[in-house]
Amino acid sequence: MTRHKIDTERLQLRRWKHKHHAPFAAMCLDPEVMQYIGNGSTRTAEQASRAIASFETEWVEKGHGLFAVEEKQTGNLIGFTGLSLPDFLPEVLPSVEIGWRFSKPSWGKGYASEAAIAALSFGINELGITDIVSIYQIGNGASARIMQKLGMVFDRKTIDPTCGREIEVYRLPQHCE
Ligand SMILES: CC(C)(COP(=O)(O)OP(=O)(O)OC[C@H]1O[C@@H](n2cnc3c(N)ncnc32)[C@H](O)[C@@H]1OP(=O)(O)O)[C@@H](O)C(=O)NCCC(=O)NCCS
Repeated sequence: MTRHKIDTERLQLRRWKHKHHAPFAAMCLDPEVMQYIGNGSTRTAEQASRAIASFETEWVEKGHGLFAVEEKQTGNLIGFTGLSLPDFLPEVLPSVEIGWRFSKPSWGKGYASEAAIAALSFGINELGITDIVSIYQIGNGASARIMQKLGMVFDRKTIDPTCGREIEVYRLPQHCE
């Protein structure tokens, strides 16, 4: 049975709960948070709730998914990270994507890196997934830096077909014996 809760020094990664809907909706309404996601538009509370439902469906159907990330000190939802299928970019399938999104007040504290490192290790060591990419829009320097910190390397530059924006794909190197 796969465990679905991960503790790091300052964070807990866990499955989504009802109490996460309102803070997640607030994040998705913030233009700075959404700037480099799709066409950059913010999401309504209804769209944010539908997104959470789709994260949970992926856990059930695929056995991997995006974790809600809570700050241990406060118990508050501060973002998400984890593994999901990048359906929006068929050219990289069947690779799985590691991604993240955090609320603006939580930026600059190393939380995203701390959570992503734990989620990557969980994917590799507990789920046995090693074909992993990460994708960011040009300009999103913080995301590119996190990919480098995860040990990922440049794979390709391409276009997000859903919005026409330029993106770079990073890939986890495969280690052969
Ligand atoms: C991307 C995001 C999670 C980064 O959050 P964060 O709190 O800055 O992350 P961390 O503090 O863990 O690490 C960021 C790293 O990038 C660096 N960084 C921050 N801004 C940067 C920039 N503009 N250019 C280059 N590097 C940058 C930081 O110095 C840090 O590196 P370091 O640990 O070597 O010092 C956050 O900005 C976010 O949620 N953005 C909105 C959603 C989003 O864009 N998601 C990703 C889609 S690909």
